[in-house]
Amino acid sequence: MDNTTQPLLRAGMVGMGMIFDETYRPFFEAAYKDGMFSRETGDVEVLLAAVATRTGKRAEIYREKSKGIGHPFESFAGEDSVDQMLKSDLDFACVATPDNRHFEAAMKILEAGKHVLIEKPSVLSLDHLDQLTDMARKKNVLAKIVYHKLADPDHKKLRTLIVDDVLQHVNTGYCSLLEPKSISGGQFAEWITGRNPGTYVACHYIKLIDFTFGGRLKTITATGQRGLVGPADGPTWDSCQMRMIYEYESGREAAFDIHTSWVTPENFPGYVEQEVQFRFDNGIWNGHARKRGVEVTVEDLTPIKMPNSMNNHFNGTFIEPWGERSQRGYGIDIIEQFAREVAYVEFGSTGDRDSRLKQMTALDYNDVSADRQSVAAIAALEAILEHQAAGEPDCIVRVNDSNGGLALYKPGVSEPVVLYNKQV
Ligand SMILES: NC(=O)c1ccc[n+]([C@@H]2O[C@H](COP(=O)([O-])OP(=O)(O)OC[C@H]3O[C@@H](n4cnc5c(N)ncnc54)[C@H](O)[C@@H]3O)[C@@H](O)[C@H]2O)c1
Repeated sequence: MDNTTQPLLRAGMVGMGMIFDETYRPFFEAAYKDGMFSRETGDVEVLLAAVATRTGKRAEIYREKSKGIGHPFESFAGEDSVDQMLKSDLDFACVATPDNRHFEAAMKILEAGKHVLIEKPSVLSLDHLDQLTDMARKKNVLAKIVYHKLADPDHKKLRTLIVDDVLQHVNTGYCSLLEPKSISGGQFAEWITGRNPGTYVACHYIKLIDFTFGGRLKTITATGQRGLVGPADGPTWDSCQMRMIYEYESGREAAFDIHTSWVTPENFPGYVEQEVQFRFDNGIWNGHARKRGVEVTVEDLTPIKMPNSMNNHFNGTFIEPWGERSQRGYGIDIIEQFAREVAYVEFGSTGDRDSRLKQMTALDYNDVSADRQSVAAIAALEAILEHQAAGEPDCIVRVNDSNGGLALYKPGVSEPVVLYNKQV
């Protein structure tokens, strides 16, 4: 093929931490090797062209490792690394900075007229979500969020059974996700202060519930425990529990509880333990990440160096039966899918760019405009925990009541704190 005419997507990456290594890196390496093909776009070249990090150290380590298997990228470090990166010729950029630092980088990328993919949780407030949504529309680009759990085959099956009306009307659900202590104590030490495991991982289940069952979010309550990651009266949380109430078109309701922790013992069998149950009028769905998987024991390796039970579906490393080494799974597929959506907008052969952009923006599994109820739930959780840390426990957030879009009520006080004025 004549390379001068081959469609090319040049990508930027903000943040090169754990998740870069687990999902973005394998995607970029696979795309570097094999390109990305569809009949709509032909063979599209996708290159990791530039990265922005705080210190540049991880970028240098990866530069060495990626010789021959990745494109030689430019690396920018320091306070203005994102601005510097955006001076490069890019088509899209991914944001994988800590949970509370997505907005600034994402906004800059959109302002520069590039498509953006943002790690979950997208942003922590609806005002920020509004700004991102408006800027993406103004610049005619995509702004999307990485919700890989929606691509987990188990969750796709759950949704298929709902769409096909096999499972009818959800009444209740519980989800639990437990992370080992090393996440809060080591991995995230730089940005852990003031953070909680709910915002970090409950967001996956909030989106799963919102996307799978639809309905209108009405109420959020939450609480949490402290004393391990930080002081017992401080703003940093060991574990937290939240409840969301939804109402459906029929007028009937459902309640969902989501429990999360990042202080589980390092050697617990699940490593990352994930469990869900949803109860319907006519059925029940029980999912357990470990029960679908394998349990392996190897002397001197498990459970610390190698987990006993591995999620081989998220981003497993394999030797394929045909001899090739690979790293595959739904965590990587979801990033490739975004790149395919960008390629479709830019190089597709159906209709014109505007119509293709509209079509991709309408995909509510990952577009920022469809993240309103999820961000509302996260904003409510953040506010409830903030009030609890300030000595005001047991607050409730109501969605779209007569006082505003998100109104936080303290026990015994009738006047709410309005977190967001507009309708959610
Ligand atoms: N999709 C998933 O399964 C999944 C899993 C883990 C984490 N995440 C999300 O990905 C994000 C990153 O998580 P992680 O585990 O990679 O974190 P990490 O702490 O390992 O890495 C964070 C990276 O961001 C960089 N960084 C920090 N502040 C920055 C700034 N202001 N500008 C530029 N770079 C900056 C750091 O240099 C580091 O490279 C979080 O929002 C997290 O919730 C998603």
